Amino acid sequence: MPGVLRIRHAPSSASFGFAHPQLAPKQSWAVVTDQNLPLQVNEDSGTFLVTVEGLSLELAASTGTWTLRDTHGRELVRCESVSGESHPNMPLSHHRSRLALNAPPGEAYLGFGEKVGALDKRGMRFTFWNTDVMPHHPDTDPLYISIPFCLGLREGVAWGFFLDEPWRSEVDVAYGEPDRVRWESWGPELDVYLFAGPHPADVVRRYVTLTGRPPLPPLWSLGAQQSRWGYETADDIRGVIQAYRTRGLPLDVVYLDIDYLDAFKVWTWDRTRFPDPQGLTREAASAGVRVVPIINPNVKAQESYPIYEEAKEQDFLVRADSGDVLLGEVWARPAVFPDFTREEVRYWWGDLHQEFLEQGIAGFWNDMNEPACFELLEAGGSVSAMGGRMEEAKRREGKTLPYAARHGKRRHVEVHNVYGMAMTQAAFEGFRRHAPQRRPFLLTRAGYAGIQRYAAAWTGDNSSHWEHLELSMPMLMGLGLSGVAFTGVDIPGFIGRPSAELFARWTQLGTFYPLMRNHAAKPMPFQEPWRFGPQHLELAKAALERRYRLLPTLYSLMHEAAENGLPVLRPLMMLDPADTEALQAFDQFLFGRDLMVAPITKPGQTKRMVYLPKGQWLEWPNMERPCSVKEGGQHIIADGPLNTIPTWLRAGGALALTKPALHTTTANWPYLEWHIHVGPDVRARLYEDEGDGYGESRLSLITGSFDRGRFTLERRVQGKLAPVRQQETLYLYGLKGVRSVTGALELGAWKDGVLEIPMGVDWDRLVVNV
Ligand code: GLC
Repeated sequence: MPGVLRIRHAPSSASFGFAHPQLAPKQSWAVVTDQNLPLQVNEDSGTFLVTVEGLSLELAASTGTWTLRDTHGRELVRCESVSGESHPNMPLSHHRSRLALNAPPGEAYLGFGEKVGALDKRGMRFTFWNTDVMPHHPDTDPLYISIPFCLGLREGVAWGFFLDEPWRSEVDVAYGEPDRVRWESWGPELDVYLFAGPHPADVVRRYVTLTGRPPLPPLWSLGAQQSRWGYETADDIRGVIQAYRTRGLPLDVVYLDIDYLDAFKVWTWDRTRFPDPQGLTREAASAGVRVVPIINPNVKAQESYPIYEEAKEQDFLVRADSGDVLLGEVWARPAVFPDFTREEVRYWWGDLHQEFLEQGIAGFWNDMNEPACFELLEAGGSVSAMGGRMEEAKRREGKTLPYAARHGKRRHVEVHNVYGMAMTQAAFEGFRRHAPQRRPFLLTRAGYAGIQRYAAAWTGDNSSHWEHLELSMPMLMGLGLSGVAFTGVDIPGFIGRPSAELFARWTQLGTFYPLMRNHAAKPMPFQEPWRFGPQHLELAKAALERRYRLLPTLYSLMHEAAENGLPVLRPLMMLDPADTEALQAFDQFLFGRDLMVAPITKPGQTKRMVYLPKGQWLEWPNMERPCSVKEGGQHIIADGPLNTIPTWLRAGGALALTKPALHTTTANWPYLEWHIHVGPDVRARLYEDEGDGYGESRLSLITGSFDRGRFTLERRVQGKLAPVRQQETLYLYGLKGVRSVTGALELGAWKDGVLEIPMGVDWDRLVVNV
């Protein structure tokens, strides 16, 4: 691809080089494109110079080391050593493959998927090994998702690095040695992709082109979601929906946690507690609510349970080193594990979604798919006589399967990190086969590079701590930079006892998560919006309504992600990659390109320090009352009383809002407002369609410029979907006075520095003279 180079290093076999004949073709779980450009290769006494559009690589064949440069000849990154070894062992061969990159002073490293820490991970170490940790803390590593991808950024120039090895791997980001980034895989080779910038957005775009774009989710999945482990009966679910509706609270989704299952058997219903699944989904639908059940990958090993019998009969299960079907415990005891790494198993699993889809189930929540395994159980006793080998055969890391478990010819240590993604792939493909007219909605806990192709991700079992509220920002931004745009965290924390204040603050912040879900663990207090007293209920209601106002923009951002992989939640440095202050700002973010959000992250606080990147910013708390315009490139103290989340609109920024609603209906918005902060260069896009399915759409592209007292806005529309609204309203901020307006239905009202202009829906040009 343009701007992307792949190098396969095979250090332990000493087969260095970019296309060594001994390297067998490899199936990647992450990479979806086979767009290979002709490389230009020049050899000069053992040094190869490889060039592709945007990049050049100088490679020393004797050592496997290389230097990557951009088209200006600027050194982006240098590989200083490649090493490794392989030791045959019983039952597993042990490999170590390593490479070290130079880490020049001042270079920042971002991304790495789902990781803790600030945005810049320099000075940290991470392991890539999908892990179920309950509870996790602000410094827990590894977590559930492994994406060995990072973005380097120095003096405003970005480049990218992706280690396409699902094997257990590690990275030391200038921690052990301040001037080295060391990667190590437990596999026999290092399959590396290098990406050109120069802008961080270019790197992300290229990475997502390589690993797959996320599909546009259904609009309803962007609405408010309520969940709890411990809604034990269908009546509990009805009660939740009713409680939302009687209080006039927006809601689109309720989840069913493991409580709905019959004795923890996947693809069953406990018919005493959930006697009529179809009736339940129908009733929920009549209140505008979708039902999404949890699906765990483990299958209860119980004679005459058809899913188990079928999987066993067809040899679809992961085996222990001994060759017996591996037995463990995950809720169900004993449980077995379908081997999703095989296509026929994925197909079978995909088909299991059909009955649930026919029962009116709207989407699926794939949990415990690292895979989690609380305990390993003896399989038939056949390994017991083998002494040392037995120890080795059972060796595992975290609550999961042993390294040596068998997936056909592969061992678990090789495919562990793709297990969860392969499960969501099965779900996605099954969904497409059995409900082809609907867009799949899947939520996953585990994943590998490319997970964005199938599912939204949430960050697992967080806690009701202020630190976790704060951590959610860099964590979701890190995931976003690693290609995963559709993300959220449990609001207001899965484990613990949230205070009313934490609940309110987290719900305010959650308004901006691409996935907004309130979820709680079973023994914890209930934490639906009405559990914290009337004042906080009102605060939550306002936040939920704000979410629904924001949907035209959020939906358009999801569409943008589906087109070019850019995340919804973006670090401030995306505006100005050379701004080192912006890079440090981990607890505030851009929602898209134009809106900046800086939530209060500490108890009792009503003010906070905020960094405004260069440019001008309209202080616009709650996206309601426009306040003053502030000059950027400085820190300011922002006001955030309990009912307010501080937000700003960038000069040149535009945001489309609609009216709050109890639930979503269509993304062909019947009511629409544009809020535009007049600046020299306005660029905005609004994507509209029916909100689900694959019908017609309409994309409005708005550009604006301000020049010598004249502000001109132009709109181009693509697509065939006919609008349903008659008019829309433009709110223009930042104008110092208005002499005349042409192109509008009426002159509009000028009040408190805001020009409000009603426009016919098919407007294509507006001129404001000031
Ligand atoms: C795991 C999930 C959590 C879920 C629980 C019970 O801990 O992360 O969200 O509620 O299992 O299914």
